[in-house]
Order: sequence, then C-alpha cells, then structure tokens
Amino acid sequence: MTTTARGRQKPPGAQGATVWLTGLPSAGKTTIARFLAGRLRAEGHRVEVLDGDEIRRFLSAGLGFSREDRNTNVQRIGLVAEVLARNGVLAVVPVIAPYADSREAVRKRHEASGTPYFEVHVATPVEVCSERDVKGLYARQAAGRLTGLTGVDDPYEPPLEPALALDTRSQTPEQSADSVHAVLAARGLV
Ligand SMILES: Nc1ncnc2c1ncn2[C@@H]1O[C@H](COP(=O)(O)OP(=O)(O)OP(=O)(O)O)[C@@H](O)[C@H]1O
Ligand SMILES: [Mg+2]
Repeated sequence: MTTTARGRQKPPGAQGATVWLTGLPSAGKTTIARFLAGRLRAEGHRVEVLDGDEIRRFLSAGLGFSREDRNTNVQRIGLVAEVLARNGVLAVVPVIAPYADSREAVRKRHEASGTPYFEVHVATPVEVCSERDVKGLYARQAAGRLTGLTGVDDPYEPPLEPALALDTRSQTPEQSADSVHAVLAARGLV
C-alpha cells in the first residue's frame, strides 16, 4: 500500500506519477515516451502521453515560442499532468520545457498534492540532435528561415538534478525507456 500526502492508503497500482522527459528538439523524447507508454500499458497501468506537439495544437493553440508563452505552455501541461497523476494515471510528458524555473513550478505543483514527479533529462547533445533533425528545424535555422530554436539560438537550461539523465547515443530507445521504468519501479510505482 502507498500512503498519500493526506495519509490515505491506496492499493498498489493506484498511485499515479508524472514523468517529464525534457531535452532538445530531436533528442528522442517522443520516441522514448512511446516505448515507455507501450511497456506500461502492457503491464496494465493507466497511461497518458502528453506530447508537446499535440498539446500545442489544442490546449496551447495560439501560444508562440517567447519565454512567456513557453512557460504558459509548460504550466498548462504541468496542471493536466498533475491532475492525471493525482488520480492514478502515469502521465508521460515528452516536452522540451527549456526553462528551469518553469519546470520547478511544475515540480512544486506536484509536491503540493504529494504526487510523485520525475524529471528525466534526455541529454542528447545538440550536435547529435541537429544530425537527427526529425522535423528539419535545425536545417531551417541554419538556412536563416527560423529563429528561436531551443539549444541553438534560444536557451535550454539543463536540469541540474534530474531523477535520470539518458545518453541516447549509447542506448536504444527501448533501453532508455527501460531505464525510466526502473526509476518508477525503484519507487514502487510500477
Ligand atoms: N536511443 C534513442 N532514443 C531516442 N531516440 C533515438 C535514439 N536513437 C536514435 N533515436 C532517433 O532520434 C529521433 C528522435 O526524435 P523524437 O521525435 O523522439 O525527438 P523529440 O525529442 O520528441 O523532438 P521534438 O522536441 O522536436 O518533438 C528519432 O528518429 C529516433 O528514432
Ligand atoms: Mg517530440
């Protein structure tokens, strides 16, 4: 049994959590989130993936990429994740979230309700990300057709104390997902 912040007992498996995968564009966040979600679902857990791209199409439609808008986007996603996680869902969040203070606010929101929150740094170096360039953003930035690309001409503040940092050069996406799973398992959440 897990004891909640308010001292209530929850049966095993009923405790949710948020896993936030932060990292540069093309770092591998979405790819790892899909493997992780697949494994968790196969194990019978309730899982939601809140992907940055999808969220920007509805919940954060109209927001841009200024510091303020990026923060608003992250706070909205953080709110949804916390509500899900507080209600027994494993919320997997592959979202860049470039600013440390934005991520800290999300962590505090989870702490306030005693909801587990894990920050995972998908720590792929910018040189590797720009080679992968899944969406062509690095090429567009290099050609002068895009400005404000995170990690290139816009800030990315890496987490200083992540629950886990992943080196996606030495691991397959599946191995990375398994490493995240191990963090959840160590806390008795899966
Ligand atoms: N170990 C690995 N983990 C994750 N992705 C990997 C790994 N090795 C290679 N890749 C590849 O890197 C690419 C990562 O793309 P992905 O869309 O997951 O990045 P992202 O971090 O979600 O980017 P964005 O912020 O733009 O959405 C994929 O093509 C994936 O196959
Ligand atoms: Mg993605």
